[in-house]
Amino acid sequence: MAMLLQLIFALSAFIGLGSAISDALAAEFGYPAGVDVWCGKAYRATNSSFEPGGWLDMPALSHTPLLDLSIRPRTNLYLSVEEYASVIIDAPISYMDGHAFVNGSFNKQDNLTSPFDTLFIDVSVVESGLDLISGQNITINTTNNELGFFLSGLTARLEPYELVITGASGDGAQFYTATTQLYYIPARTDGGSVTKIDNLYGGLLVQDYLSNSTAWTPLFPYTFYVSWDGWLELSIDNLRVFKDKGYNIIHIVPNAGLANEAFDFDELDEFLDVMDEIELWLMFDMRWTYKNLTSVEMQVNRLKARKSMLLYYTGDEPDGQVDALNATKITYDLIKSLDPWHPVSLCLNCLNYYFEEYTLGADIIMTDPYPIAVNTSWSTQYDTVCNTTYGCCGCDDCDGNFEDVPNRLDLYSQYQDILNLPKKPLWGVPQAFGNETFWARYPTPEEEVVMNMLFVNHGAKGIAMWDYPTEPDLANVTSALSKVLTSNTVSSFLLGSFHAQLSVDGLPRVDAASWIVGSQLLISVVNKNYVESPMANWKKPSGAVTGN
Ligand SMILES: *[C@@H]1O[C@H](CO)[C@@H](O)[C@H](O)[C@H]1NC(C)=O
Ligand SMILES: *[C@@H]1O[C@H](CO)[C@@H](O)[C@H](O)[C@H]1NC(C)=O
Ligand SMILES: *[C@@H]1O[C@H](CO)[C@@H](O)[C@H](O)[C@H]1NC(C)=O
Ligand SMILES: *[C@@H]1O[C@H](CO)[C@@H](O)[C@H](O)[C@H]1NC(C)=O
Ligand SMILES: *[C@@H]1O[C@H](CO)[C@@H](O)[C@H](O)[C@H]1NC(C)=O
Ligand SMILES: *[C@@H]1O[C@H](CO)[C@@H](O)[C@H](O)[C@H]1NC(C)=O
Ligand SMILES: *[C@@H]1O[C@H](CO)[C@@H](O)[C@H](O)[C@H]1NC(C)=O
Ligand SMILES: *[C@@H]1O[C@H](CO)[C@@H](O)[C@H](O)[C@H]1NC(C)=O
Ligand SMILES: *[C@@H]1O[C@H](CO)[C@@H](O)[C@H](O)[C@H]1NC(C)=O
Ligand SMILES: *[C@@H]1O[C@H](CO)[C@@H](O)[C@H](O)[C@H]1NC(C)=O
Ligand SMILES: *[C@@H]1O[C@H](CO)[C@@H](O)[C@H](O)[C@H]1NC(C)=O
Ligand SMILES: *[C@@H]1O[C@H](CO)[C@@H](O)[C@H](O)[C@H]1NC(C)=O
Repeated sequence: MAMLLQLIFALSAFIGLGSAISDALAAEFGYPAGVDVWCGKAYRATNSSFEPGGWLDMPALSHTPLLDLSIRPRTNLYLSVEEYASVIIDAPISYMDGHAFVNGSFNKQDNLTSPFDTLFIDVSVVESGLDLISGQNITINTTNNELGFFLSGLTARLEPYELVITGASGDGAQFYTATTQLYYIPARTDGGSVTKIDNLYGGLLVQDYLSNSTAWTPLFPYTFYVSWDGWLELSIDNLRVFKDKGYNIIHIVPNAGLANEAFDFDELDEFLDVMDEIELWLMFDMRWTYKNLTSVEMQVNRLKARKSMLLYYTGDEPDGQVDALNATKITYDLIKSLDPWHPVSLCLNCLNYYFEEYTLGADIIMTDPYPIAVNTSWSTQYDTVCNTTYGCCGCDDCDGNFEDVPNRLDLYSQYQDILNLPKKPLWGVPQAFGNETFWARYPTPEEEVVMNMLFVNHGAKGIAMWDYPTEPDLANVTSALSKVLTSNTVSSFLLGSFHAQLSVDGLPRVDAASWIVGSQLLISVVNKNYVESPMANWKKPSGAVTGN
């Protein structure tokens, strides 16, 4: 009976079982009371369709060019033991964001107007006026300009420093400004680990504590959501079994069936001791409890000084569940105040539903479109149609094919452009389950690799599949893939450069991407056709000297 109950809880993550929201919340969203919703859509045959809202549209574009100056620290935090930091400055010409730009700068010396091609910039600390960077320049319409400075004028503390950048044309007639937050925080004294986010390439950076290394090494996280009560808990040796397959981090799904909806923490500690010992990094999931701040505080305080602690995970499909719009941010702020050394992630399920609000509460955004063996136009669970305002088909506004994966990742990237926010890393959640609810069967090993690699080709900086244990052939193929993706050779490309989409001719439905580091090129080609296709050609990206 207990097992059955847990199973129902676990499934409710997908199918909206018991997802009625409170009348007060329904009123805030403008929904009728007492209607079960998923992604804001009514999905029971007894309820009719209404507008879910929360849809982010492309804004009207400007007819004249804008200069969109922005600044962000190279890494999301610096430690008191570090002497040097840097910022990334973007100054693109945009038609979506920014301020008026006129391509001219007047020179009083000779009364001539020259092109406005250089922006003269200064960066300072708002509260003290301390200059960090002065008298430098940035070429108009360039991005990812990195400028360094010494941290010696600042004192490490928990609150971030507000930095401001000002940029002006040579004549001073055109002036731009932007701000960012710099976290310069105390180093740990309790032996706990620190995880940084690289705000340039989007990867995680960790220190290999087993060798006492102080170097920051990129980590491409490759894992599954792992069932605690259904598998891991059954034997402490499972930790080594999992790591030996090649997965470098473990995302443990807590037990909803316990009174605290989390873990027996004394028991978990024994597992964490082993993880510390073998450096199996932890993605700590608080899906059932993340809105309970008392519980979050207790859990974070228990976990935060662990060596193997990598990052937190709060809302599991908070958009699907229609959690309060401020829920993820409130919890994020609490976690940051208790543990500023580790990032916070969450997973969104909807195509386009209050993206801005829910992602405010995360450093890393995950997405889980599950397109295999699913009917996306007719709900096999609720016997209704599914469309953009109604129904729950298991994959929100999906087409039920491989394209759902890159479409979703590209859209989430575009939403961040529309919102004009610094880009947060996106991670993918490939489908590695089936033969249940909406999904008639498991993916095949080939389909599994295709989904994984489509996420990677479109810029995902981490992979966590749902879920483990999975079918033996999926465990096999992802174990093999883990050894490729987490190898230094491959992850140095994925986390040390930008991905570029390559155009492919000769065959439709072939997806190719490239990464260039120095004179080396990595290419990944994914065939979305269900037949072998040796005929596709791709164009060699410019800048590539040698292939490998
Ligand atoms: C929605 O459907 C439920 C039954 O599933 C019903 O009790 C309720 O009255 C319906 N509400 C509306 C507003 O149609
Ligand atoms: C620039 O224009 C101003 C005002 O018209 C004039 O007084 C000045 O002599 C000019 N200078 C030069 C170098 O031509
Ligand atoms: C400004 O004008 C110069 C000269 O015409 C041109 O080369 C440059 O591309 C222009 N810059 C922008 C951002 O439009
Ligand atoms: C921009 O800065 C560089 C490096 O400091 C300097 O060499 C260059 O002359 C500057 N360009 C302009 C237009 O001031
Ligand atoms: C600015 O850069 C973009 C991307 O590199 C390019 O497509 C565009 O033509 C440039 N715009 C101007 C005005 O130079
Ligand atoms: C790392 O440091 C600890 C504590 O100082 C020490 O016991 C251990 O031997 C060191 N490990 C390595 C690989 O140097
Ligand atoms: C919140 O969590 C605490 C600690 O587990 C628990 O005692 C309390 O009952 C929970 N509150 C709610 C509303 O679930
Ligand atoms: C968060 O939102 C809920 C529901 O919309 C509201 O009741 C609550 O007051 C908000 N909390 C804060 C701290 O803003
Ligand atoms: C989805 O279900 C509908 C209704 O049963 C059916 O007509 C349609 O062919 C199904 N589509 C797919 C892709 O299975
Ligand atoms: C979605 O389907 C419902 C139920 O058939 C219908 O009332 C609604 O108009 C449809 N919405 C759209 C956007 O087509
Ligand atoms: C699918 O699930 C059903 C019910 O849980 C089970 O009896 C059956 O063996 C499963 N089929 C496969 C191919 O896993
Ligand atoms: C998994 O891989 C092992 C070792 O390569 C092989 O012996 C086994 O048959 C494979 N299992 C499946 C289900 O593919």
